[in-house]
Amino acid sequence: MKNQLEQLRQKALQAVETTGDLAALEQARVDLLGKKSALSAIMKQMGALSAEERREVGRLANQLHADIEHSLDEKKAAFSAAALEQRLSQERIDVTAPGSPIPLGRRHPLYLVLDEIKEIFVGMGYEIADGPEVEYDKYNFEMLNIPRDHPARDTQDTFYITENILLRTQTSPMQVRTMLKQKPPIRIIVPGRVYRSDDVDATHSPIFHQIEGLVVDEGITLGDLKATLEVIAQRLYGEDVVLRFRPSHFPFTEPSVEVDMRCFSCHGEGCPLCKQAGWIEILGSGMVHPRVLAGCGIDPDIYSGWAFGIGLERMVMRMYEIDDLRLLYENDLRFLRQFN
Ligand code: DAH
Repeated sequence: MKNQLEQLRQKALQAVETTGDLAALEQARVDLLGKKSALSAIMKQMGALSAEERREVGRLANQLHADIEHSLDEKKAAFSAAALEQRLSQERIDVTAPGSPIPLGRRHPLYLVLDEIKEIFVGMGYEIADGPEVEYDKYNFEMLNIPRDHPARDTQDTFYITENILLRTQTSPMQVRTMLKQKPPIRIIVPGRVYRSDDVDATHSPIFHQIEGLVVDEGITLGDLKATLEVIAQRLYGEDVVLRFRPSHFPFTEPSVEVDMRCFSCHGEGCPLCKQAGWIEILGSGMVHPRVLAGCGIDPDIYSGWAFGIGLERMVMRMYEIDDLRLLYENDLRFLRQFN
């Protein structure tokens, strides 16, 4: 029996040593120490031994049981250490590895300039208003003193949703909307998209942006308009800006003026940027027509006001010397990345 135990020890310890994983190890534990194991079988036979032998064999058998158990535990510890080691190496984060760059967007040149303009006006106490791009004929034309058959409509053909609803051709309808719901003093700018049924070329697009300005209060004069526009032009283009006010005509202003800026590239001498004129047209404006004021419930005998409309694309093109409007809409990153 002692021999049997000795053989069993060798087989058992080797079996433990050669198990490949935890599951196999658990199986080995059952096989080697369970009720049906060879060791159990030996122990069951001990009753046939003399008392002395039984003590001796019993001691050896117990010893073997403890040794197998010990080697099983050691093997198990080795398996978990290896598993931990593997997880650690798999999940290791190399904090010194270079990061993957996150591509940062940037503002579109139209909005870079718009933001600058907004900031100047907000600094002067103006509010920024926002109006619908799908607009009633009434606000886009009628109440701006452009009745159904007025020739001014020809230059602003647009996309009609119904006979009375259209894509706005200008931001001016927001003058009406604002005056209908707010009484003077009014000081707003309205940046936004406008639409015209124009073909696309280097200077035209069926969608473009305008910024409307409107000031209404008691005692507002053309002088206020002039001073305000001068301050704004200086803030945008520099202290030595020179503006020129030219008589013009818009149905919703009286008198109407167009404002030119002395060309900042040639200082008035004539160059390709100003098409040799020495001056660059920057906006349309004028004193709000008394009929428009009255139509909005504002008494033209008490209040007066002025308004202007700037084309944003033109400003941006001038500021960055862009010679084709289409570049602003093509989303070509090589172009857009140049502005910051
Ligand atoms: N809405 C005009 C246009 O699109 C521009 C304009 C002219 C706006 C004079 C005004 C203004 O507010 O007073 O051509």
